[in-house]
Amino acid sequence: MFKNQSCGDLRLAHVGSDVTLAGWVHLRRDFGGVIFIVLRDRAGVVQVVVSADVAPDAQAAASEVRSEYVIQVEGTVRRRPADQINADWPTGEVEVEARNVLILNSAKTPPFYIYDDSVVDEALRLRYRYLDLRRARMQRNIILRHRVVQFIRQYMNAQGFLEIETPYLFKSTPEGARDYLVPSRVHPGKFYALPQSPQQLKQLLMVAGYERYYQIARCFRDEDLRGDRQPEFTQLDLEMSFVHRDDVLDVIEGMFTAMVPEVTPHKRVLTPFPRLSHAEALERFGTDKPDLRFGMELASLSGVFRESTFRVFQDTIASHGQIKGIVAPGCAGYTRRELDELTEIVRREGARGLVTLALTHEGAKGPAAKFLTEAEVAAMMEHLGVSEGDLVCIVAAEPKVVAASLSALRLAFRDRLALADPDLITFGWVLDFPMFEWNAEEERWDAAHHPFTWPRPHTYEAMMADPKAVLSDAYDLVCNGWEIASGSIRVHDPQVQADVFRVLGYSAADAQAKFGHMMEAFSYGAPPHGGIAPGIDRLMAILADETNIREVIAFPKTSQATDLMADAPAEVPERQLHDLHIRLADEV
Ligand code: AMO
Repeated sequence: MFKNQSCGDLRLAHVGSDVTLAGWVHLRRDFGGVIFIVLRDRAGVVQVVVSADVAPDAQAAASEVRSEYVIQVEGTVRRRPADQINADWPTGEVEVEARNVLILNSAKTPPFYIYDDSVVDEALRLRYRYLDLRRARMQRNIILRHRVVQFIRQYMNAQGFLEIETPYLFKSTPEGARDYLVPSRVHPGKFYALPQSPQQLKQLLMVAGYERYYQIARCFRDEDLRGDRQPEFTQLDLEMSFVHRDDVLDVIEGMFTAMVPEVTPHKRVLTPFPRLSHAEALERFGTDKPDLRFGMELASLSGVFRESTFRVFQDTIASHGQIKGIVAPGCAGYTRRELDELTEIVRREGARGLVTLALTHEGAKGPAAKFLTEAEVAAMMEHLGVSEGDLVCIVAAEPKVVAASLSALRLAFRDRLALADPDLITFGWVLDFPMFEWNAEEERWDAAHHPFTWPRPHTYEAMMADPKAVLSDAYDLVCNGWEIASGSIRVHDPQVQADVFRVLGYSAADAQAKFGHMMEAFSYGAPPHGGIAPGIDRLMAILADETNIREVIAFPKTSQATDLMADAPAEVPERQLHDLHIRLADEV
């Protein structure tokens, strides 16, 4: 080994010992006769002192080094003088007096500083990801990710799950995004699809009798990217046989409850996880992934304003819309500009406008106040529990728009008023999803989760007559406003599966072509089974206090799905296309 100690591990207990260190030059200060080098390796940084009096050759070598040079240092650990202790570093009480300094490799000047976490243009960070990964923030995130994944493995193993790999070269899976396709050389004109998740394969493992499966699985989806979406991402994918919904929820709830204090001791996790029906989540928070760390719930005001003469409210009630509001505590003094910003937020969600009422000592103030009677305002205040100094924000529109607008406004207030404790981890289960969603564009029913989801038994009878009334045994786990996991109890009964396919409009031939292998497998004794898949990247972002999952992935793609470091995707030589029987269209 080039080293017998790690820089970041040195402590007072090492004082007097001879060490050989190897790492990167984090910082270097040259005082002529004495050169101070902050040497960095994976474990952290330590100060190395190279003085011409003690080691003239070492000093000569040290005077050559620059930031990010790779060097080896032999020397002795000594206590730092009391006035030079660096309380910010774990190694701050010691330093290494160098005897020898050997340059192992030089380095060009990096395009950004490694030694601090100053903001750097993201394209530059991604172009030089290997340098970005040297920085403290990224290193913290990547190491935390390792600990989380190891925790998951240990937990799942202890619960009797088997880790089983499934193929990447597979067939289109029904998660609803576009597939990444891989052309076959040996089968001209045919393509594999990279799995959007191992959904079918894990169900087949249940048919195969493995009972409890998990995998830290890479999934591939060609979809529009956002802060919480990457084209390839990682799930803890699991599936269990002979279980009901609550058995699956218990495994996940147990795992996260144990995980958070172990990997992030400074964070608190609230248990037990609250459970909301999908309808309740929309009603109370306007979204199926509510941030449950704070209140500010949506309240219906349709009753209060039923007889209102205010045109906006009248029209909404006449067209079967909704009037709902939220209360922003202490925001009555918002300026015109701030109110305009709030209006802009709801406009982006499709609302025509926002009615704001500031509760002052002179009563309710706002552009719409003059259209409301005193009795209506009093009833509203009573209903919402508002007090002086509060700002009431009301949206009147069709239910979908009301929900999306007030949910967005609620999150905006969360950030403006710091309503959510960043060290609080609040999971919640969202249950009883609708089984089908109407796809207006294509005029057909889509599976809200996927076509293998088991309908809630008491709603199943409605399946053929009224698909929208059918609820499914699907469940989501939300956390701090993110959807962290989705899963469901699966269909194991061929008759129910046939009915689901029928609602989805698959002919027998379609179903056979798409899922024939599944249906055939299910005819050989499929156990009742269900599963779930938490997204590890999203979980990591929450644990690491990041808002974009790129920050917790070693080599992520940009929002344009490109890799700026390796320059992928890229053109390939004509010969390779030829081998794959591919000819590019002229316009490419
Ligand atoms: P679903 O498609 O809901 O379910 O995905 C489950 C979880 O995976 C994460 N996730 C993503 N993370 C990053 N980038 C993406 N593009 C992305 N897409 C999804 C989310 C999400 O909650 N096979 C089913 C699960 C099951 O039924 O067992 C599935 O994949 O955290």
